[in-house]
Amino acid sequence: MVSIAVCSGKGGTGKTTVTANLAVAMAQYGRDVLVVDADIEMANLCFHLGVDGSSPTLHDVLAGKAELAEAVREAHGVKVLPGAISLKALKRADPERLEEVFSALEKHEIVLIDAPAGLGRPVLTALSVSEAALLVVNPEISSLSDALKTRVVAGKLDTKVLGAVINRWRGTAEEIPNRDIENVLEAKVLATIPEDTNVRASCSYGVPLVLYKPDSPAAQAVKKLAADLLGEEYRPPKKSLRERLKNLLVRL
Ligand SMILES: Nc1ncnc2c1ncn2[C@@H]1O[C@H](COP(=O)(O)OP(=O)(O)OP(=O)(O)O)[C@@H](O)[C@H]1O
Ligand SMILES: [Mg+2]
Repeated sequence: MVSIAVCSGKGGTGKTTVTANLAVAMAQYGRDVLVVDADIEMANLCFHLGVDGSSPTLHDVLAGKAELAEAVREAHGVKVLPGAISLKALKRADPERLEEVFSALEKHEIVLIDAPAGLGRPVLTALSVSEAALLVVNPEISSLSDALKTRVVAGKLDTKVLGAVINRWRGTAEEIPNRDIENVLEAKVLATIPEDTNVRASCSYGVPLVLYKPDSPAAQAVKKLAADLLGEEYRPPKKSLRERLKNLLVRL
């Protein structure tokens, strides 16, 4: 099993979006992938993957009210361990049991853990049980600063930082360039995912972008990331005849 914690420090950088899409993209390469919503307080991975967030969930497992296998469901080719949306379930869940749950996930080839923001107990647990971590960073100073804290903590916990995933990239002048992000984090930028209005729509439909708009540059960036992490060959989509003609005319 390979377990990867998807972290960022700062909230709202796109951890859940990246986790859901990366999981589906990895499954498209034939891997057995399980995604876990470790955002105990603000669980919402179920919406991104269009799975039922009602009981039994991770929260019921943490409350000792369900077996792990009962809470795992399948969507878009990946196994999903969702968290509960309700406050009642949150109150009953015992986060101390998170480590025990994580160690029971070993039968899966790849486990992706959608970590919460900050550096609270669930993030530390997610990092300490994972072999590796991905840092989802927006190209702005507040995101970079929080990612650096996460990177330092990951180092202290002996969790290998695979690299940074730049998300919501617009290519504007005020954005921090990738090479500066690499220098600050002392980590490679593994992917640059552009800002894409389809991300919100895909979440509304519970269909990750890699399936909802598979040829979009954002989806392609995630697919390439999946291929690179898995050591697979990435094949970009074939351009349509119209696009090829357009390119040809531009070159003439
Ligand atoms: N590449 C993108 N283009 C446009 N919008 C995006 C992109 N990635 C994420 N978003 C949007 O950003 C918001 C936050 O995304 P997401 O929930 O994945 O972040 P998060 O890091 O998991 O947040 P939290 O810290 O609250 O768990 C969502 O509204 C999502 O639709
Ligand atoms: Mg999230």
